[in-house]
Amino acid sequence: MAPPENAHQLYADLSQYYDRFCRDINYAQQCAYAQRVLAAFGRSSGNAYFDLACGTGQHLRHLIDAGFEVGGLDNSQAMLEQAAQRCPEAHLVLADMADMAAHNRYDLISCFLYSLHYNHPLQRLEQVLQRAWCALKPGGILVFDMVDKNGIENHRGLTTYLQEDNQTFEFASRWHYAGVGDLLQLHLRIHRHAQGVSNLWQDCHTMTAVSVTEVQTFLQALGFEVWIMEHNYERFEAWDGASFNVVVVAAKPEN
Ligand SMILES: C[S@@+](CC[C@H](N)C(=O)[O-])C[C@H]1O[C@@H](n2cnc3c(N)ncnc32)[C@H](O)[C@@H]1O
Repeated sequence: MAPPENAHQLYADLSQYYDRFCRDINYAQQCAYAQRVLAAFGRSSGNAYFDLACGTGQHLRHLIDAGFEVGGLDNSQAMLEQAAQRCPEAHLVLADMADMAAHNRYDLISCFLYSLHYNHPLQRLEQVLQRAWCALKPGGILVFDMVDKNGIENHRGLTTYLQEDNQTFEFASRWHYAGVGDLLQLHLRIHRHAQGVSNLWQDCHTMTAVSVTEVQTFLQALGFEVWIMEHNYERFEAWDGASFNVVVVAAKPEN
């Protein structure tokens, strides 16, 4: 396996394993949360849903099954192919998030698993929020999760192990923020052992570091009404202002 050149290539190489690496993520719970958010804070009455950085389409599948008309966007063809298999009903778009071009079309837009941070630099992340504003119907809802740049713990990471057939994978990810500027790095290390042969992928994704307050202020300047919640998909829990891992809910006013 050649070392991947960028995030794009890495997701292409990993797409077939992605769901297995993410097996501990409770997608059903996240989707139920998104629906509760729409019911509680949304004012549009439709069921048009769009997922930014939809990956292999896990959120799309749950929302289709809940009766939504769904669309998804990702900049990885390989991830979209997985999504198309899972969700033949979905309208899928190969594009960069910052180039989303829809107007007054969706009741609910989501961007999960911290994927908003993939937009770098900060102006590009803000462009995504601005495009989401345009794409929502009046009364529609944008929901996403994010981590505050002031709370990045450089020494902490996540390692997942996967064993299947004759191969073993070790998938390790870790964020690093130098403490200044908007550059956030995501370090990934994937080790594969199969039949006595070991392969190593190492990669560093460029992401954007931003604070919750900066995002909140930008969304409010666009016209959104904003609620910041703790990163707890079991229930709504207002942000205590001190934690660094949050869910942002932004409602576009009806008029
Ligand atoms: C961590 S995965 C999350 C996928 C999915 N949201 C989930 O929760 O499983 C990040 C996804 O973002 C996509 N991605 C990264 N940068 C992107 C960009 N600038 N525009 C669109 N998609 C992007 C990747 O291809 C990948 O599918």
